[in-house]
Amino acid sequence: MTKTTAAITAVGKYVPEYVLTNKELETMVDTNDEWITTRTGIKERRILKEEGKGTSYMAIKAAEELIKKSNTNPEEIDLVIVATATPDLLVASTAAYTASEIGAINAFSYDLQAACSSFLYGMSTAASYIESGRYKKVLLIGADKMSSIIDYTDRTTCIIFGDGAAAALFEPNTEGLGLQDEYLRSDGIGREFLKIAAGGSLLPASEETIKSGQHFVRQEGRTVFKFAVSNMSDVSEKILTRNHLTKEDVDWLVPHQANNRIIEATANRIGLEPSKVMVNIEKYGNTTSATLPLLLADYETSLKKGDNLIFAAFGGGFTWGAIYLKWAYNS
Ligand code: UT7
Repeated sequence: MTKTTAAITAVGKYVPEYVLTNKELETMVDTNDEWITTRTGIKERRILKEEGKGTSYMAIKAAEELIKKSNTNPEEIDLVIVATATPDLLVASTAAYTASEIGAINAFSYDLQAACSSFLYGMSTAASYIESGRYKKVLLIGADKMSSIIDYTDRTTCIIFGDGAAAALFEPNTEGLGLQDEYLRSDGIGREFLKIAAGGSLLPASEETIKSGQHFVRQEGRTVFKFAVSNMSDVSEKILTRNHLTKEDVDWLVPHQANNRIIEATANRIGLEPSKVMVNIEKYGNTTSATLPLLLADYETSLKKGDNLIFAAFGGGFTWGAIYLKWAYNS
């Protein structure tokens, strides 16, 4: 019997029009273009400015682009997963709203939250449903409106994050393409170093939590940086070794876009030259759940059927991991 694997068969993206440049940030906080560029690699990021528009607005746009490009009938989609750390609303699923708006009327849907690893973990979930034969079309969307949780007076976070969304469709494949292996990890030790302190069940919203700015994301940058470098490098190396892949076998590294120095350290550890590393951090900053699919959308035309892709991510929690995937189509 032929083995069924889970392949990505289409991608789509959406980023808001408003461009927040390093120059503009210089007028908002005590920072400068040179510091941001050398320490992070970021030049600009996109911000969803319009009032009344949340993460679903971008998720819907990204999904609609995918549907149009791939000529997919939304009524055939079985499952819509929205990977996000910034849902439209607490409790009410952003994915349910997104699925209805894109016409996926026969799908069920839910959100998946694992901070910057949300999309990576979502790939595992989407692939498992396909491999088991349970569903035929799983739409995984990574979307985050990071500007909704950023304190634009805090120079240690506001320079990093941006808004965006991108989507990938997972379908069965019998040629051995798609997801090959995964190595996913988490460690609760990270909870103190990157979080929004209030607004959850541990510390519900109050006048006090608002006054003290506890609804914004805060991180101990240096600590997160160290964990990110060592863990993203470790899992990338591990997935290569486990699959008997040499650096020559790898066509692309698809790394979470948090900091160019983290990306370079990961690439160096597995010996990959820069031309094989996907990078768009200079344009979008860290879009949390959207970084990996935004890379796929931006590099889609360079990808060839059979290419070996190594995904790697690290995020709050801590959560991290690597996935080995064979690309399934020429665009
Ligand atoms: O996506 C999920 C996970 N998140 C990450 O992976 C982020 C990981 N962390 C990082 O990327 C980096 O730690 C940051 C970009 C957040 C910070 O870079 P860094 O090289 O670790 O800088 P630092 O925090 O060690 O700060 C160095 C100096 C400090 O000044 P002193 O103490 O040396 O005088 C900071 O106050 O840079 C100062 N600084 C800034 N200066 C200009 C911090 N932020 C800024 C800024 N502009 N925006």
